[in-house]
Amino acid sequence: MSVSMPKRSFDWLPVAAAALLLVGCAKAPDTSAVDAKKDAAGREAYERIGCGRCHGSLSGGGGQAPNLSKVGADPQHTVTWLADHIRTPQTHTPNSAMTAYGDQISDADLDALSAMLSRMK
Ligand code: HEC
Repeated sequence: MSVSMPKRSFDWLPVAAAALLLVGCAKAPDTSAVDAKKDAAGREAYERIGCGRCHGSLSGGGGQAPNLSKVGADPQHTVTWLADHIRTPQTHTPNSAMTAYGDQISDADLDALSAMLSRMK
């Protein structure tokens, strides 16, 4: 015969743990998942649009145009600068041989490409 312990009416531990977790999440929002999604979209756009025809591979370069694998390391190369360059390279490089994508590129592709390139460091 066993003596059963009186049952506790409420267990606070999981509640406290959940509350701490929520506070922790609110304090430090994790943007890495969003970044990863954008990077994937940017890489997909890079392939689909054919930037690699001139720039080669994103990781290794190998094209006739500059290697972009470290393009985000230059502090001048902000997301806005990159987006401007993709739409109108001639604003930064007057005699640029790069295609001016202008209105040919969608806002979503431009956004993803610029964000992804800014993180290529
Ligand atoms: C027809 C060839 C060609 C294509 C296609 C092309 N580029 Fe370029 N790109 C160049 C050349 C040449 C340069 C160097 C001259 C300049 O700065 O504009 C360049 C420069 C750049 C730069 C600036 C690099 C730096 O370090 O200053 C970025 C960023 C860039 N390209 C992104 C892209 C992206 C993104 C695409 C696709 C949407 C693309 N390019 C498609 C030829 C091309």
